[in-house]
Formats: sequence, C-alpha cells, structure tokens
Amino acid sequence: MKNFYITTAIYYANGSPHLGHAYEMVLTDVIARFRRLMGDQVYFLTGIDEHGQKVQQSAREKGIEPIELCDEAAVAFKGLCEKLLTSNDDFIRTTEERHKKVVRTLLQKLYDEGQIYEAEYVGYYSTRAEQFLQEKDKVNGEWPEIYGEVTEISEKNYFFKLSEYQDWLIGYLKENEDFIVPRYRLKQVQEFLKEPINDLCISRPKERLEWGIPLPFNENYVTYVWFDALVNYISAVGYGTAEFEANWPADYHVIGKDILVPSHGVYWPIMLKACDIPLPKALLVHGFWLKSGQKMSKSAGEVVDPLDMIDQFGVDSFRYFVTREMNVGQDSEFSSELFFSRYNNDLGNDLGNLLNRTLNMTTRYVDGVVPAIEVEEEIEKELQKSWGETQDEVLRLYEEFQFHQGLEKTFQFIRSINRYAEQRAPWKLAKSEEPKEQSLLKTTLATMAESLRLGATLLAPVMPEVAEKIPQLLGAQTGSASWKQSLEWSTVLTGGKVADKIILFPRPETSG
Ligand code: ME8
Ligand code: MG
Repeated sequence: MKNFYITTAIYYANGSPHLGHAYEMVLTDVIARFRRLMGDQVYFLTGIDEHGQKVQQSAREKGIEPIELCDEAAVAFKGLCEKLLTSNDDFIRTTEERHKKVVRTLLQKLYDEGQIYEAEYVGYYSTRAEQFLQEKDKVNGEWPEIYGEVTEISEKNYFFKLSEYQDWLIGYLKENEDFIVPRYRLKQVQEFLKEPINDLCISRPKERLEWGIPLPFNENYVTYVWFDALVNYISAVGYGTAEFEANWPADYHVIGKDILVPSHGVYWPIMLKACDIPLPKALLVHGFWLKSGQKMSKSAGEVVDPLDMIDQFGVDSFRYFVTREMNVGQDSEFSSELFFSRYNNDLGNDLGNLLNRTLNMTTRYVDGVVPAIEVEEEIEKELQKSWGETQDEVLRLYEEFQFHQGLEKTFQFIRSINRYAEQRAPWKLAKSEEPKEQSLLKTTLATMAESLRLGATLLAPVMPEVAEKIPQLLGAQTGSASWKQSLEWSTVLTGGKVADKIILFPRPETSG
C-alpha cells in the first residue's frame, strides 16, 4: 500500500531557523504522528534549499564557499528537527546528487520535447527577489522596497512553456477544489490565473549566478531556483526508480501562504503535468506567525527568541503552544505573554496539577497502588461518556487539521476531571473509615488516574513526551496496544504502582 507522504517546504540555506520554520515542522510532524498513530505508513520529508543568489552572496560576504554555508545550514536545520522531536524519515539537501540528477533529467526531457525554448530576454531584474519584473510590478511608478535594486538587462535565456498549461490548470482547480486546503487559499491561485501568465524563465547565466545546477543542454547556465527546489519533493523519494510509487503522489505539501502563488500553486502542478507525473493530492497552506524571526520583548524587559522557549520550557510546551494558538491557515501572534498564559494555565494548572494531585493522593490514601473502580454513580458515568465524545470529536478535528480546536476539547476534558475531583473531594472521603466512603475514595482515585491517562494519550501527536510520560508515572505498563486501543476506557492502570509526585511544568522564574 502507498505511504502517506507528507512534506514541509525546504528552508533557504542562507537564513537561520526561526519560528516560522519551527511551526511548519511542528505542524507537519503533528500530522505525520497522527497518521502513524491511526495506523498509516507515513513518509515525512523535510530539508533545505541550497542554491541561488542569496546563498552565493551570503557565502561571499562571509568569505567561505557556498557549500560550506550550506553545510552549516544543514547542521542548524537538522538540529532544529531534533530539538522539536520531529519524526521526519528523510532530510533532503538540494546539493545532493540524488536531487541534481532528477532536476537534470526533467530539464532534458522538457528540452527534447520542445517544452523549453531559447529566447532573448530584455527586462528588469531584481537580485533580491531573484526574478524578472514587469512594469505592472511597480507601485506608484516605483519598484517596491521588497525588490531591492532593480536593473535593466538583456540576455539569452531558456523558457518553459508555462502559459500553454494555463487553461488546463484553471480546469484542474475547478474540478479539484480540495487541491488547496483551506479552500479560501484556492481562490488566490484562481485569482492569479485570471490574468494571462507568462512562460517561465528557467535559466540564469553563469556570469550572474554560479551557484546552481547547470542546465544539461547548456553548461553556461544554471537552473532557476524554483525549478530546482520544487523538484525535491520527487527527487527525495526516488523519481525514476521503482520505489517512487511507494510514496508519490504526495498526500500533502505543507507550505506557508507566501509560497503558494505562483510557485506551489502554479509552477509545480504545471511542471508535473508537463513531465507526465501525477500531481500531489493537496497543498496544505498555513498562515504566518507575526513577529516571527524578530526578537520579542519579555515583560521583564529581557529579550527572548521564540525558539528559546524550547530550551526553557520543554519541547512539548512549545509544540503545544504553537498548535493550540494557530488556526491552520490563518495568522497568529506570538508573544511571551500568550505563551506564559498557556503554559501556566493549561499546562501548569489544568494538566500538571491534575497529575500531581492524582499521584499525591494515590500515594497518601491507597499506598500508591491504583485501585479498581468499585461503585459507578452518575458522575463517573458522565465523565466516561464525556470521554467517549471527546475522543470522537478530537479525532475528527485532527482529521480536518483543526488542531487548535482538538486541543481545546482535550483540555476541556482535562478540566472536567479536575471538576470531578472537586465534587468527589477524595481528601474528605479519606477521613472516613466507612466502607461506602472507602469505596468511593477508591473509585475516585481510579477514575482520576484512568481519565488522566486517556487525556494524556490523546495528546500524543502534539505532545509526544507528555503522552508517554504521564501514563508511565501512573504506573501503566508499556504494552503493544495500538493508539486507538489505548484511547479506550480501560482498567490497564488497576493494580499498578504510581510514581512520586513530580512537577512537569515548573513555574517560570521570571514571567513578569
Ligand atoms: O520559501 N510564519 O524558504 P523559507 C509561518 N526555500 N511560516 C513562515 C514564516 C512565518 N513568520 N516565515 C516563513 C522558502 N515561513 C523556499 C521554499 S519549497 C520547494 C522552497 C515558512 O526558508 C514559509 O511560508 O523562506 C515557508 O513555507 C517556509 O517557512 C520556508 O521558508
Ligand atoms: Mg521566505
């Protein structure tokens, strides 16, 4: 059976990892982990985008070779993957031979078929954006700031017949409205396609840019970065070999909104169509973290980088925050205030305290051994019922990439366990020797432990460490049950010994 194949964008090697990259990796990882837990075979790809003007320039400024800069970037981005606990199966670098080979093969094929042609190009070129510009790109008669220095050039180049496929793509998008998720992003591509599109210049003369993949049919040119970078999604999974079909077509390319139009929404489907390769099933387009990459100011006046939160508060807290806060597709604000509020309230108070109370009371009242449920009254039944609903609802929300809502539902359930404990008040029950009270005490502690185990287990795609640790602390044996089985209300904890109380989410020392 074909793998569930999911990719992130590949990150520019001239930049250093920032919140936007970290978010995209976490989002993709949450989906990959979720699918694996649901029983799919998953192939998860990430990597870096190493060619182009900016890498060449940055390397020159640093007085090193471009490849050295890329090697450093590979270390930095692989380090970020590890730090974030991403479960990627592969990490592609576009300077690898397996990638360059595929780019050259495709270019040669298109050239041989006459889908790439040579022409004289006269026009404006932006070095910063690495693209040719047109008069219509001017705003109030001026080149917008984002283009940096714009110069007029005339040179021979190679063009890919993009425009021949415009009508085909319009038709394809009309018939495949789920090609771009969320749906409102599809509209942006359709909007772009309302104007006639130009053929795509896919070459850069070597005197202007050396750091790229030479065109197979003319060594004096290198390949335009997008024609190189997009191909990573197929080169990494062995395009041209038998193993290719184990993964391709990709189920989702996860990308940010800035690289939908025109690269992923227009160039990529047309490149594939022209090469007779099936299209990916869908593009999942996320929004932006505002303030990303910028230093944020803590209320104490200290300066923090969002990625520092990982070291200070643990990877699961970071993963929780970005997944809980972002409605996939839309933009979101990252501030330390918001982070601390989620950390202290959801994680510290709701989840952390529940764990502590459960461990503490089980140790004090029943010698640390999780008792069996002895009586089930209305409120136990209600909690069990609400678990059933929570589980169904959260899995459905996860299927639909509504992770923020899935987490909200999960934490509503966790809060309902705390309310249950308040109502039963085991600390009062423990004061009585009466069999009825003793029985209720055991029932309460057993119910708290089991429902907490379930809630924590449901967090697994987002908080892999916590989902493993909480059941362990509650004395669960690591069994062979599937995730879905372990989400069923059970007696697995009964008779197990709980750990000493522990603070999973310590209060930050200076949260202002
Ligand atoms: O665009 N919030 O690389 P890149 C959320 N190499 N996501 C953000 C973000 C933010 N503030 N800033 C950036 C490239 N991103 C190309 C891609 S793919 C064949 C080639 C996301 O390092 C951005 O939307 O600039 C993109 O998906 C990813 O980070 C890589 O950005
Ligand atoms: Mg970018």
